[in-house]
Amino acid sequence: MTLKHFLTTQDWSRAELDALLAQAAAYKRTRLGSELAGKSIALMFFNPSMRTRTSFELGAHQLGGKAIVLAPGKDAWPIEFDVGTVMDGEAEEHVAEVARVLSRYVDLIAVRAFPKFQDWSIDRQDRVIHAFARHATVPVINMETITHPCQEMAHVMALQERFGTDLRGRKYVLTWTYHPKPLNTAVANSALLIATRYGMDVTLLCPNEGYLLDPRYMDFGRANAAENGGSLTISHDIESAYRGADVVYAKSWGALPFFGRWDQEKAVREASRHFIVDEAKMALTNNGVFSHCLPLRRNIKATDAVMDSPACIAIDEAENRLHVQKAVMAALAGKP
Ligand code: CP
Repeated sequence: MTLKHFLTTQDWSRAELDALLAQAAAYKRTRLGSELAGKSIALMFFNPSMRTRTSFELGAHQLGGKAIVLAPGKDAWPIEFDVGTVMDGEAEEHVAEVARVLSRYVDLIAVRAFPKFQDWSIDRQDRVIHAFARHATVPVINMETITHPCQEMAHVMALQERFGTDLRGRKYVLTWTYHPKPLNTAVANSALLIATRYGMDVTLLCPNEGYLLDPRYMDFGRANAAENGGSLTISHDIESAYRGADVVYAKSWGALPFFGRWDQEKAVREASRHFIVDEAKMALTNNGVFSHCLPLRRNIKATDAVMDSPACIAIDEAENRLHVQKAVMAALAGKP
């Protein structure tokens, strides 16, 4: 039997995602459970985190389980992922052993592994988490690689709390924002996936064609929209994109054509600071809500006024990480 992982929401049916959201809502009411009593999860962090680490550790605890946090290359041995390589570099062991050994200890393995930001043709293969999934004999959960499915679920839960469970027909703007550094496309990819999956009319707003997302995610977005009664539109016009929006979701990401040559992207990036989410832009919306996955640089990506306004649901979304991840862990490893 194929092992069920939580690598991307695209692998889960709408009915399964809806069941996760219903369970997450139940956990939000009850907080505690015993579904993970006697169970454990290894949290493998190749990159920093505040929300993900805290909410996974606490979530496991609140369901009676135990989380072990490991940072390979820092407090655990550096790991090799290439196949057939002569391991005469920094790595002390291969993922083939790490994943199988951890599988003897724990019931779930969760992985955060961002791109290396040098060659998108390599990073888009998402090798680290796929290697864990290939070698592990327990379910693997994506804590953010080139998508961020746990964030997706927390985001859609926060939207359902504002708008009700049926999000079809809502005008959803995924806006690129300026950031001094090129960031991961993971949350943008994920926002596109989940907003189209839930039938919203999605506009991807970005400075120019160079900021379009990887064709894999653009294609998933179009297919999801066709399947779920929504739409996917590309816009470079801030005013028309914001006008009438029910949801504004902001994220910064590096332009894929400049991947690994970021100095050449800098001029476009610097010229696009006006993509900041501010009160004037939010005033164009249909009394819309604003959210962001966090962390967020205030007055760079969104103004203080937007972050502190009643329209901002970013804190609700962050809280929901705890509840949806409990639902994911319970679904994959919980006692029936
Ligand atoms: N949104 C999110 O994943 O936050 P952290 O990077 O702090 O985990």
